[in-house]
Amino acid sequence: MKNTIFLLLMFLTIALLSCKQGTTVSSEENIYAIIPAPVSLTELSGRFTFMPKSSIVVSPLNDETRLSAEFLAMLVKNATGNEPVVREGKGATGKSVFMTIDSSIANPEGYNLSVTRKNIIIRAGGAAGLFYAVQTLRQLMPPDVEKNFEGNVVKLSVPCCVVEDEPRFVYRGMHLDVGRHMFPVETIKKYIDLLALHKFNYFHWHLTEDQGWRIEIKKYPKLTEVSAFRKETIVGHAGKRPHIFDGKPYGGFYTQDEVRDIVNYAASKFITVIPEIEMPGHSLAALAAYPELSCTGGPFEVATRWGIFEDVYCAGKEETFTFLEDVLSEVIELFPSKYIHIGGDECPKSRWEKCPLCQKRIKEEGLKDEHELQSYFIKRIEKFLVSKGRRLIGWDEILEGGLAPEATVMSWRGVSGGIEAARQNHDVIMTPTNYFYLDYYQTEPDNEPLAIGGYLPLETVYSFDPRFEELTEEQHKHILGVQGNVWTEYISTPEHLEYMTCPRMFAISEVGWTQASKKDFEDFLARFNVQRARYDAMNINYFKGEYRNKRAER
Ligand code: ACM
Ligand code: ZN
Repeated sequence: MKNTIFLLLMFLTIALLSCKQGTTVSSEENIYAIIPAPVSLTELSGRFTFMPKSSIVVSPLNDETRLSAEFLAMLVKNATGNEPVVREGKGATGKSVFMTIDSSIANPEGYNLSVTRKNIIIRAGGAAGLFYAVQTLRQLMPPDVEKNFEGNVVKLSVPCCVVEDEPRFVYRGMHLDVGRHMFPVETIKKYIDLLALHKFNYFHWHLTEDQGWRIEIKKYPKLTEVSAFRKETIVGHAGKRPHIFDGKPYGGFYTQDEVRDIVNYAASKFITVIPEIEMPGHSLAALAAYPELSCTGGPFEVATRWGIFEDVYCAGKEETFTFLEDVLSEVIELFPSKYIHIGGDECPKSRWEKCPLCQKRIKEEGLKDEHELQSYFIKRIEKFLVSKGRRLIGWDEILEGGLAPEATVMSWRGVSGGIEAARQNHDVIMTPTNYFYLDYYQTEPDNEPLAIGGYLPLETVYSFDPRFEELTEEQHKHILGVQGNVWTEYISTPEHLEYMTCPRMFAISEVGWTQASKKDFEDFLARFNVQRARYDAMNINYFKGEYRNKRAER
């Protein structure tokens, strides 16, 4: 009895002391809400608490592994004001974190994370795996870690658990069109931050459009003097007649220094930036500056309305290929990505049909028609990219007239183009409009800001599964992964961009990362509801309406 009273007194004293220091021990249950859901999660009782002396020990410590250690150190500092020391070592000492590359984990993006009361141990197949483990750890931390330390000491703890994890797909991407509307460098970085938090590994940056050319190319200064600006912009939906315009000039571009900054920023979060330079269509802005690259010679204006335009690069002129190879040469210098996206979608053939030079090319090359001329165009560009050690990606129209030998296909008009490409043993990224076009309405349109159309609630995005009965196991290996697309005809501000992309991009992260057997929409919603406090702390303007598919037959 005496002993019990003694123990009780001891407990009360400790509890009181800890309250005094402003470090109350949370009595709430441990909560685990990781997006995307991991392969396996074992929940354990207790919590690991960061102490002022906690350090982050890394093996080996190099430029790549340091990125994850410093990311974690920054999270801890944000919450506690105290930045853990990052050092090389062979194991955790005291209440510390140990992160190591473990060659027994085959997947360079895979990791094992063990959180006990004593320490946190991360083993990963490669540096990217360490980074993803840190993102998991981050999602187990309170939202305080998302904001710069504001002077309130928070006791930072993480619920004990064991996580074993690796992605289902090697390609997990998000796209952003900056041609129709462009966004400040800071917005692009915030977008990349959101991708990193959800373990995406590709940012597809759509840099050229009919309505604006957005990347500085030193050899062709008129691309930024002329092509980067339009005299005005259509107001309201482009399908509505008559067209009304705002009368206000619009434009801008990213300098090569800004591009390098963004590429490096993304790389520090294990995200590859894939540039897209559109050809042969969606090229009116470039033709406004260099009309001699068209079939008719122009003159042209940078487009002021949304849609598809008849004037495209002339496939019969050698100057077109000289220009595009020059542009791509500068692009290759700026972007270390293995993949370079060349568009290839929505290219009307009407000018080519009437152009003597295009027709001459068809004849001389023994091509059947204008579709084969487009195929000639893409194959020629692919040859150039391959000569520079790069790989070509194009939208699924590049199937028409025959695929270039090593092309990767982005299937957007549904999944059939992707299935066909996989059957032809080509790599595929699935980005079908009816699941992954985040410019579509995410709820009934009545009270929503203007969008291009469609109906794509979170539940529908989440439901996509890139498995197809038409494909064999071998052919399925060509499905590299998935991507969400964000076209910005009707998205002109950073706030609206976040509104359209969040939380639907979080659902895409789970389609790309999480094993099919672990996917469960209700569970995802519950995890999202926990993480909302984090998105609030990050000042994300996410959509807060109906997430379920209300048009679904249940
Ligand atoms: C596309 O949406 N035109 C690829
Ligand atoms: Zn032509």
